[in-house]
Amino acid sequence: MKTELLIIGSGVAGLTIAVKYAKTFPKKNITIVTKGNEDESNTKYAQGGVAVVLDDKTDSFQKHIEDTLISGDGLCHETIVNMVIKEGPKRLKELMVWGAQFDLDHTGNLDLGKEGGHSEFRVVHYKDITGYEIERALLVRAHQLTNIQILPHHFAVDLITEKQLQQNAEPTTCFGAFVLNEINNEMITIQADSTVLAAGGIGRVYGHTTNPNIATGDGIAMAYRAKARIMDMEFVQFHPTALYTKQEGSAFLISEAVRGFGAYLRTKNGIRFMPKYDNRAELASRDIVSQSIDTELKKSGDSCVFLDCTHLDLNGFKNHFPTIYKTCLENNIDISKNWIPVVPASHYVCGGIKVNQNGQTSISNLFACGECSRTGLHGANRLASNSLLEALVYAHNIYKYHVDFPVSENRHKFLNWQHVGTDNLNDAHFVENNVKKLQTVMRDYVGIVRSNKRLQEAIILLDGINKDVEVFYKKYKLNTALCELRNMVNVAHLIITQSIERHENRGGFYNEDNV
Ligand code: FAD
Ligand code: SIN
Repeated sequence: MKTELLIIGSGVAGLTIAVKYAKTFPKKNITIVTKGNEDESNTKYAQGGVAVVLDDKTDSFQKHIEDTLISGDGLCHETIVNMVIKEGPKRLKELMVWGAQFDLDHTGNLDLGKEGGHSEFRVVHYKDITGYEIERALLVRAHQLTNIQILPHHFAVDLITEKQLQQNAEPTTCFGAFVLNEINNEMITIQADSTVLAAGGIGRVYGHTTNPNIATGDGIAMAYRAKARIMDMEFVQFHPTALYTKQEGSAFLISEAVRGFGAYLRTKNGIRFMPKYDNRAELASRDIVSQSIDTELKKSGDSCVFLDCTHLDLNGFKNHFPTIYKTCLENNIDISKNWIPVVPASHYVCGGIKVNQNGQTSISNLFACGECSRTGLHGANRLASNSLLEALVYAHNIYKYHVDFPVSENRHKFLNWQHVGTDNLNDAHFVENNVKKLQTVMRDYVGIVRSNKRLQEAIILLDGINKDVEVFYKKYKLNTALCELRNMVNVAHLIITQSIERHENRGGFYNEDNV
């Protein structure tokens, strides 16, 4: 199959590029492949909102820039920070024109929330389901444009590069991707002039995460195997306040906007501990709050700390955070009387596929956008609500690059996917067991606080898992679960090796031997 633009992923990044490109080039075909349902993505679960400077009486671009630089702890790329923040308002307005709704205040202006690390109220939101609303509006828009074809339940396995034209060739250009139709298990070759990886985050590499199950780092792993440059993977961001329950797996998020609304963090004994760690207290940046909670938990031996909302205006809370209020009630927590048990959980990867201002990777005709990319905006720790912003701005930049420099037609002839393994996978527990093993290694050895010894042990344990997975990958017919496991092993390898290479603590990266 041939397409002009192949986009892998249907979150905010992929859909925004598709909508912009399709409108400008009505005669060109855009194909979006996405595993699972078309709306399943990290985007769908975003709560707090999009950080943009709209109120120039109290706020300014300069303040948002400074907050982003402080949060990134000296590792942000200043030119990129300037560009993204100044473009933000234009991109948000575009999204509103396409139909996305955001809450208004009593004067009819956009209501602005506050989150950790922000010196001003600047987070545009729709209740506590901002991402759901953005995803909804973008999907409606994409379906109105007849030159966009969305293929749900289509899993991109690997990128096509020179390696597929000539064995052992160095990959320098991307020509599309091999994609597994998850419904009939057939592999299709999608040849594209230009390919965009918009495949999102890596949360599931850690068992305990705010991310949905799709977040297995496939885009980063595919790019890594195609030898694209991957950077800053040691900066995994742990969100301080995931709802604590005894269940493993995806955890419900209690938005940072709840602390912006005035909630306090307390130990089991009621001590409000954040003021002793940072003068911004509960509204310090995420790395500081998560590391402080980790310290408190290690000191006390408790399983969680608590978010106290009992002093807050109940009607205001219900109005701003209806989903959080309801989910707490479903867990027998009445926020007007009970504190919410919370614990940090893996949330976001600040690193990823290195791109320039146009979203170009180190491989020609391969672009990356959104959470799987590493633009330089976040440095060592992303400022809250700067991720949706980054995806919107870079989607525009990638679109604009295609307008200014149209990519020429890809006329190569490819062999179809060569199945390496042909046996049916008959060990139902192999993938599940190895996912658990991998997540245990990442939790126990590569968490919020790392050490040289633990990182060295992690690499040995991961090598063992990797060997088993490669044997299975070569022997058996592919399916999504096996490919995801292989991708998670690649991503874990990048996180561990890049952690070993970092000899100073910055932002979200903390190795106790570096002190
Ligand atoms: P995603 O939205 O994750 O989309 C990735 C897409 O790629 C999905 O459709 C997925 O199915 C598809 N895909 C993945 N692998 C493959 C494959 N192999 N083949 C085919 N398709 C594939 N950020 C903010 O700025 N503000 C917030 O308030 C906020 N709140 C958050 C709350 C939660 C609970 C979470 C989890 C994240 C939050 N974030 C927030 C982060 C933000 O939501 C994400 O970083 C952002 O939405 C990522 O968008 P994306 O388009 O890059 O990826
Ligand atoms: C949140 O609402 O706390 C998440 C915001 C973000 O990840 O930027």
